[in-house]
Amino acid sequence: MHEPVTSPILVTGGTGTLGRLVVPRLRDAGCVVRVLSRRRGEAENGTGLMTGDLATGEGIEPAVAGVKTIVHCAGSAKGDDEKARNLVQAAVRAGTPHLVYISVVGANRIPVVSGVDRAMFGYFGSKLAAERIVADSGLPWTTLRATQFHDAFLLVGRQMARLPVMPVPAGFRFQPVDAGEVAARLVELTLGKPAGLVPDIGGPRTYGMAELLRGYLRASHRHRLIAPVWLPGKAARAVRAGANLAPDHAAGHRTWEDFLAERVG
Ligand SMILES: NC(=O)c1ccc[n+]([C@@H]2O[C@H](COP(=O)([O-])OP(=O)(O)OC[C@H]3O[C@@H](n4cnc5c(N)ncnc54)[C@H](OP(=O)(O)O)[C@@H]3O)[C@@H](O)[C@H]2O)c1
Repeated sequence: MHEPVTSPILVTGGTGTLGRLVVPRLRDAGCVVRVLSRRRGEAENGTGLMTGDLATGEGIEPAVAGVKTIVHCAGSAKGDDEKARNLVQAAVRAGTPHLVYISVVGANRIPVVSGVDRAMFGYFGSKLAAERIVADSGLPWTTLRATQFHDAFLLVGRQMARLPVMPVPAGFRFQPVDAGEVAARLVELTLGKPAGLVPDIGGPRTYGMAELLRGYLRASHRHRLIAPVWLPGKAARAVRAGANLAPDHAAGHRTWEDFLAERVG
């Protein structure tokens, strides 16, 4: 049993797929939670939402003031290193909060060196850089790397199903994990002691990308052709070799099929 944390916990990205699942779990554990978002006009209405932009640093200082823990779930396809840097600078000025970070499996194994790598896999490079900023911050820290969430593949499936033919990167496999299960693990880590880099979390099964999309097409009663596309570069080669997978840490229980049955069925 963890003791409830009474001083506020800041959840960056508390409005996103993962953060939205972290916030109620922390509140259920008795924590006072603040959420940082770029959205304006809601800070005053008692939701605990504070307005700020981690990309520019604007509004971050009031958000980190007096917090004991920061769960850093804010992220986007680009610039997570810059966001981490701005957050860490403000946090260090505010005190010594425990910084809990969510990264991605493969951040340390997918080389982002050439322009081709950067164009397609720059996300992994920025997650690794953000991990290092967290680890070198001087703050007590915990970082969890997760595989891709089911929600990400649902989004890809919906977008690609607009095309008559769905192009899929040849040889790519994924191990989708339930965002709720990742949220539960993050909450456990948040309520625990700083632990550094903890074991990865991945979903229960590994699928080829085409298999994931076929599952989506079946569940949504659609028919599309799937065309494999060979991606160039070292990063793509690493993904084909499984650098984005965590087969030894298949801690998730909810499968892609379970998720589809609930969300798409
Ligand atoms: N999705 C996956 O498959 C996956 C897998 C492994 C790790 N992760 C990591 O998990 C984290 C959360 O992912 P997610 O899928 O929940 O993302 P998401 O649904 O896209 O949500 C992103 C969140 O980040 C916030 N945000 C983005 N840019 C911001 C900025 N400049 N300043 C302040 N807030 C900002 C957004 O808040 P507002 O829009 O309200 O400002 C939103 O709450 C990310 O770090 C991601 O890299 C994701």
